[in-house]
Amino acid sequence: MKKTILLNPGPVCTSERVKNALLRGDMCHREKEFSVLLSNVRKKILHAFAPNGNYTTTIITGSGTASLEAGVCSSVSEGKKILVINNGVYGDRISRIASAYKINKVELQYDWSKQPDIEQIENTVSKDSDIEVVALVHHETTTGLLNPIYKIGEITKKYGRTFFLDSISGLGGEEIDLINDNVDICIGTANKCIQGLPGLSFVILKQDEVNRLRKIPPRSIYFNLISQLDEQEKKGECPFTPSVHTFFAFDEALDELLEESVHNRIKRYKKASTFLRKEFKILNLKFLLPDEFLSNTITALYLPKNMTYAHLHDCLKESGFIIYAGQERLNEKIFRIANMGEISMSDLEALIRNLEEVVDGE
Ligand SMILES: Cc1ncc(COP(=O)(O)O)c(C=O)c1O
Repeated sequence: MKKTILLNPGPVCTSERVKNALLRGDMCHREKEFSVLLSNVRKKILHAFAPNGNYTTTIITGSGTASLEAGVCSSVSEGKKILVINNGVYGDRISRIASAYKINKVELQYDWSKQPDIEQIENTVSKDSDIEVVALVHHETTTGLLNPIYKIGEITKKYGRTFFLDSISGLGGEEIDLINDNVDICIGTANKCIQGLPGLSFVILKQDEVNRLRKIPPRSIYFNLISQLDEQEKKGECPFTPSVHTFFAFDEALDELLEESVHNRIKRYKKASTFLRKEFKILNLKFLLPDEFLSNTITALYLPKNMTYAHLHDCLKESGFIIYAGQERLNEKIFRIANMGEISMSDLEALIRNLEEVVDGE
């Protein structure tokens, strides 16, 4: 089979080792073998992303949005509000989840190619004591923009609010220190920078938050963080049928991550994006974002003049490379290249040769 290099921001290319883990065999999720697996996966998540204690985690069968939805609908008390900092499609998604659950919200919308206004956020939080949770997207996958988590964490700490972070495309790709950044609730997924398979996501929660969340009446049966957590922690089970085989792959992917180390994974991605960006500049491609906002894993580029996304995409697909379109208002304007996953430097060099041919062929 022809090799396909996925340059979309998840699901990403995975190693043979992760794919082979799917063949570990059949397993009943109510047997002690699954409890051991669940406990191992939970421990490895915490070891990778919250090594200094104080946090717990719950895994949900479902894509990243499942854990995002569980986090939002389980964390805002009746009559209180969530402040959504929205500078992209995923900030907008948090806002839409809050609306779907009829949770009171305040939304601050910003340009998709800019970081949010810290002063305005502090002002908003300080003046409204009903704001209980402040939600931010760590890495806006829409554009590849990194948001200033430390500064938001400082505000939530100062005013005693909960800092809710969507780090679905950040964990494993960007530096983050949950304690130092004052993150209370952090959402992640298996199939981006952790290099597992799609179908599992997770929530990392500060222990103090668990006690606060316990007092909030459930708004959902499946997406209730406390019931998910209690079953996993106390019974070693998932309340509903988990994607057992995806757990095998996640377990293996976490082993790979811990063997490589989170620090070295981030370094590898940074090296890849630095190489790509140098080459994109040589090809005269124009960047959507200024350098200082760029993440380690996504580059959003304007489409070359007179070239449609479909043409660029189809030419590269023929050579085995899957690039990614812009979303919504950026759809006709940009394309995205992600360098998450099991991709070698020689794969990236081959991408550049193919990209050059398409761009120069016009
Ligand atoms: C920052 C962010 N949040 C949420 C999501 C949604 O995740 P999923 O598509 O796995 O539901 C994504 C997916 O790309 C994302 O990048």
